[in-house]
Order: sequence, then C-alpha cells, then structure tokens
Amino acid sequence: MVVVAVAGGTDAVGRSIVESLMAQGKHEVLILSRTANPMKEKETGARLVAVDYEEVAALTKILEDNNAHTIISTLAMMPNDAGSLEQNLIQAANTSKMTKRFVPSEFGFPQRAEDGHIFPTIPMKQASRSALEASSLEWTVVYNGYFMDYFGMPQLASRLAPYVVLLDIPGNAAAIPGDGNKLVTFTHTSDVGRFVTALIDFEEWDRVSFIIGDKMTLNEAVKLAEVAKGSKFKVDYDDLDKLKRGEVTELPSQISSYSVIPREFVQAINSAFGIWVDRGDFDFDEKTSLNTNFPDIKPMKLKELLEKAWKN
Ligand SMILES: NC(=O)c1ccc[n+]([C@@H]2O[C@H](COP(=O)([O-])OP(=O)(O)OC[C@H]3O[C@@H](n4cnc5c(N)ncnc54)[C@H](OP(=O)(O)O)[C@@H]3O)[C@@H](O)[C@H]2O)c1
Repeated sequence: MVVVAVAGGTDAVGRSIVESLMAQGKHEVLILSRTANPMKEKETGARLVAVDYEEVAALTKILEDNNAHTIISTLAMMPNDAGSLEQNLIQAANTSKMTKRFVPSEFGFPQRAEDGHIFPTIPMKQASRSALEASSLEWTVVYNGYFMDYFGMPQLASRLAPYVVLLDIPGNAAAIPGDGNKLVTFTHTSDVGRFVTALIDFEEWDRVSFIIGDKMTLNEAVKLAEVAKGSKFKVDYDDLDKLKRGEVTELPSQISSYSVIPREFVQAINSAFGIWVDRGDFDFDEKTSLNTNFPDIKPMKLKELLEKAWKN
C-alpha cells in the first residue's frame, strides 16, 4: 500500500482516476485541491487536502506529512490555469523525502515542440517534462488519445466537461479532418482510471505509457455513429489548407455553447487537432501500449459506447 495523491482529483480526468483507485481499494488516496471540500470527500471517500500550488515549501510539507509516495497530476493545463503551477508541484515532489513517483497532467497524445505556437498547452506540458527530467523522481507520461466520453454526451454521464469535436451525434453531423482514413485512438476516462490504477503497482515505469481504448478511422467511427443513431449524418471533410488557416466545419451542437466556449476557441483548437489527426499522431502502437501489460483490462469500445448512448 502506498499513498497516491491526485492533484485536481475533484473533477474530470482526476475524478475518474480517484474513483478507479478507490474501487481497487489497495492504496490510500489523497486528493489535492485548492479548496477544502467536505462534499467531494464524502462523494469520493478519499481524503482531501487543501493546497496552495504557489507555495512550494508548504506543498512539500503537505506531501511529506501525508506520506505521499506517488503524485498523479490532472491539473487543468490551459493558459491562466494550472499549467505553470504543475512545475511547483514537481519541485515539491522532488524535494519531499516521501515522494518517489510522478505522473504529469498530459492524457492526450505525444505533442511536438514545434507546434507550441499553435496550442499554448504544448509548451506548458513540455516544461513539466523538462522539470521531471531534471528531477530524481520516477515518472511516466500517460497518453490516451481522444476521450471517448465526448461521443456519449449528453446521454451517458461523464466527469468531463462537454465538448463537441469530430462527431456531433445529437446534430447528426461530422467534421472530419483530411480524408477520414487515418487511425485515431479513443479511450474512455473510466479506462484511463483503470490503467493508471494498474500502473501504481507496476515495478518500473517507462517514460511514456500509451493506453488504447479503441482505434479506428474517423470514417469507421461515423458509420458506427450512424448505425447507433439510426440516421444518416451530414459529413464534411476539411482539407489540410483549411485546417492550416485555423478553420473547421462548424457543427450544429457547437453553436449553443459559444457563450461558454467561444467560437474562435473551438475553431482554433479543433483545426489544430485536425492537423495532428491527419498527421497520424493519434495512431498509437498496440505493441508498446499498456494494453499488452494489462490484458485483463478490457477497455470500452466505441461501438459499445455509441450503442449504449444512442440506440433507441
Ligand atoms: N485527451 C483528451 O481528449 C483530453 C480532454 C480533456 C483534457 N485532457 C487533458 O487532461 C488533463 C486534465 O484535464 P481536465 O479537463 O481534467 O482538467 P480540468 O477539469 O479543467 O481541471 C482539473 C483540476 O485542476 C484544478 N485547477 C483548475 N484550474 C486551476 C488553477 N488555475 N490552479 C490550480 N488548479 C487548478 C481543479 O481542481 P481543484 O479545483 O480541486 O483545485 C480542477 O478540478 C489536462 O492535461 C488536459 O489537457 C485531455
């Protein structure tokens, strides 16, 4: 048994990992959060410690006082969020006498430094990896492709905030980068939780840990969605020139959420991700994935999720 501290474990990706760790029941789970929250403690059953990510010395003391052996960071990695604060957490973990292992907040796909000007998260995540490289901590970066949860919303509950990308299933539409024949990895957050939980007991971590929930082309994904929904989709293909201009086909269900997620943001992010999908960056290799290490974990398939969410 070790103490696993999940930074940002109150919601979204972190919450899924906390729930898996609690379901396994082998390790003590600690949530690090900016605010005390007895309700979330009650809901998760995990102890929650309020921290200030600006205060490295205090953060170090909290990790030591709580015997935090492994840190899983799931901090928001957007500008003005916790991107640069994650480096403080790495510094505290490296100084803490109790802390040995660290998983930074990545949970996407291997990004390239040269794309840093397109998406501000890239240099932040890179800076965390450099800080880990310079530390004496054992660490691994977890990549899971797109979260599958987005394609079950709002029918299937998820800890993630809703976001419309690639397939707009309520709107019977799809915006496909390129010709739609590139392979893309999709993983449900609950399976990320299960694989990360299994990683805790893994003796030695590789620098990179790939998780593959399911993998298929977007053309195949559209067909599965059409069958599950029982309707024909309007499918638009965005070529590379359009994506490079920062434009993607607008999906009907995006429009109603522009007050929360502005149109400019959706266009910028989805076009950038479109370029990376078309480049094959989401085509993870099964041979080097955690799936081969943990064959007993049978991740949710996209077909299964779509049928659960949309059939009838
Ligand atoms: N592959 C995909 O499809 C995909 C999709 C979404 C996200 N991701 C990645 O997954 C990781 C986690 O994302 P997420 O959506 O789970 O994050 P999130 O919900 O936006 O934030 C996670 C937690 O970070 C803490 N936080 C937020 N803002 C903060 C701030 N300014 N300072 C300090 N802490 C802050 C909050 O915890 P407290 O309030 O409890 O402190 C929050 O619950 C990120 O690296 C993201 O890039 C991947």
